[in-house]
Amino acid sequence: MSSTSDLPRLYALLGDPVHHSRSPALHQAAFTALGLPHRYFALRVPPERLGAALIGARALGLAGLNLTIPHKQAALPHLDDLSPSAARIGAVNTVILRGDRLYGDNTDSPGFAAALGQLRARTPSAAIVLGAGGAARAVVDALLHQVGVDQLRWVSRAGVPPPHDPRIRALTYPQLAAGPLAADLLVHCTSVGMAGGPAELPIPLDLTTMPAGAAVLDLVYPRPPGGLLDRAEARGLAVQDGLETLLWQAVYAQERWQGRPLPAPVIEAMRAALR
Ligand SMILES: NC(=O)c1ccc[n+]([C@@H]2O[C@H](COP(=O)([O-])OP(=O)(O)OC[C@H]3O[C@@H](n4cnc5c(N)ncnc54)[C@H](OP(=O)(O)O)[C@@H]3O)[C@@H](O)[C@H]2O)c1
Repeated sequence: MSSTSDLPRLYALLGDPVHHSRSPALHQAAFTALGLPHRYFALRVPPERLGAALIGARALGLAGLNLTIPHKQAALPHLDDLSPSAARIGAVNTVILRGDRLYGDNTDSPGFAAALGQLRARTPSAAIVLGAGGAARAVVDALLHQVGVDQLRWVSRAGVPPPHDPRIRALTYPQLAAGPLAADLLVHCTSVGMAGGPAELPIPLDLTTMPAGAAVLDLVYPRPPGGLLDRAEARGLAVQDGLETLLWQAVYAQERWQGRPLPAPVIEAMRAALR
């Protein structure tokens, strides 16, 4: 006789656009490696339909959701509960359905911290974060609460959320470019370089002013040729693209949905599906 965990369940990514997403391949690889018959779909949901889609997810009995651009912040009023980190960050990328209740969590934050841990670089004490959207908020939260940086310069055009921690200094791009990039880690979290996104930051960054041994992470994937990481690598800095964070946020999403840690071979199957 089959147990309820053997019955196929549906999971979905809601975003707009979603056709480029690697999440279905990643999560389908996890279900296969776990021996589960579940299915994961990417569904294009325009912003004005998000509320209806979340009501529909309850009605259809979906088991779990991921949210991506433009829904990570907009979803908050439609959810029943939030994890402490999702509430602090103000963005949700993973939803667990518990009966009729939607529980929002943020696995971008631990996913980024895990990806940073894979990089062969020193633990950062001073960091620069570019961008103030959902991804940047998750990265800032990880740097403050998981990595434990001493100083964080947070840079955006429109302005960052009111700094809630004395380690944060909010800067504009001209303010950042006025001095050396004195940090062990620079994390790019804007939409510059993503498919269909803007090509350039407001001001070119002089990576030669970063100290030797520093690292540059770009959350964007696939890695844009001739972009920030190519220039950082040419300067001899350690680099990592957004695929490693993508992998680990998916691993933590699976762990939230399945309620248990993923065995190493399952994570390796996900990594293979991604690359
Ligand atoms: N690897 C992963 O797992 C992962 C996870 C999440 C997101 N991402 C990637 O990270 C990027 C950002 O995602 P998000 O969810 O944070 O998006 P978002 O909420 O839309 O935020 C985008 C940010 O980009 C900034 N921006 C847009 N155009 C810019 C320009 N010309 N110059 C400088 N800044 C500009 C905006 O800046 P201002 O604040 O200055 O207006 C905003 O802070 C996307 O490429 C996404 O694919 C990757």
